[in-house]
Amino acid sequence: IAPAMNQAMWRHPATQRNVSQLANDGWQLIGPAAGDQACGDVGPGRMSEPEVIVDCLAQHFASAAILPAPASAPHVVITAGPTREALDPVRYLSNHSSGKMGYALAAEAAAQGAQVTLISGPVNLPTPHGVERIDVETAAQMHHEALTLAPHAGLFIGCAAVADYRAASAAEHKIKKTDDSDTLTLTLVKNPDIIADVSALPTDQRPFVVGFAAETQDIARYAEDKLTRKGLDMIVANDVSQQGLGFGSDNNAALLLWRSATGTKQREAPPQPKTQLAALIIRHALSLLPSQLLSQRPSQPPSQLPSQSSGELS
Ligand code: PMT
Repeated sequence: IAPAMNQAMWRHPATQRNVSQLANDGWQLIGPAAGDQACGDVGPGRMSEPEVIVDCLAQHFASAAILPAPASAPHVVITAGPTREALDPVRYLSNHSSGKMGYALAAEAAAQGAQVTLISGPVNLPTPHGVERIDVETAAQMHHEALTLAPHAGLFIGCAAVADYRAASAAEHKIKKTDDSDTLTLTLVKNPDIIADVSALPTDQRPFVVGFAAETQDIARYAEDKLTRKGLDMIVANDVSQQGLGFGSDNNAALLLWRSATGTKQREAPPQPKTQLAALIIRHALSLLPSQLLSQRPSQPPSQLPSQSSGELS
């Protein structure tokens, strides 16, 4: 289904409910795109460009075919889920990531024959078949595991919703409510940027790096900024303000941006089940991977690898 309608009609909760129902029933939506509309409004609801529709159809039928296992597959490291930053022994800062998108990527990469390590924040999901899972809680722990494994990987995908800040110091005992004041001031400090640090690894240790961008407006512009600022090779931008998509849901839509010799290129992936979007993302990333990263790099168990933590583990 390639919908085309006025932006207010598209945004209407009844339309969104129906769209979500269709997606849950297995229908695939192509678009809509956003921009100028025939009536003079600006917003989501434009029919996707015919090239995008054709591309989606081609992708759909290609993925429906049984793919031969690739002759060589890279070691893929994926981060997924939220991080939790303790405020005291009973409270923490976190977000709504369920891990579904990252776990779908891990399952798909494993299905395509890759050796997959999933660095997971706290989620309620079973480990996908054939995937090695490392559980972490904080951004600092995720940073440590990522920087330990990434130099031995061909492809690194940062899908986790990492807390940008943590408490300057977590209280040793439960913070008490006081009668003196109606406010409580917390001092937060920046967490390390995991994916930027992976991207900055020396060339002979650097995997192909794919990030995600969770945006609520100006998706393409903010995503391109993150692609450049964090030094990534590809970024998957998703609009996390759309009902029924993004955080916690079974469906997602995305805009893929990647660097090419002629500048940044992009491709739209319409709303669809996260499992299906994961297949599209993995296939796209693998198609961009330089051949020297396609085969497995020598890997060692994490315990034998030198620690590359920034020393920020609290
Ligand atoms: O888990 P689900 O419920 O299935 O939801 C999926 C999702 C919405 C969480 C996922 O699709 C998604 O958008 N993940 C990225 C969320 C995010 O933190 O986006 P960001 O725009 O704040 O970060 C940009 C990139 O930097 C991401 O690759 C992120 O992993 C990385 N990052 C961010 C901060 C940090 N300190 N270190 C990082 O590596």
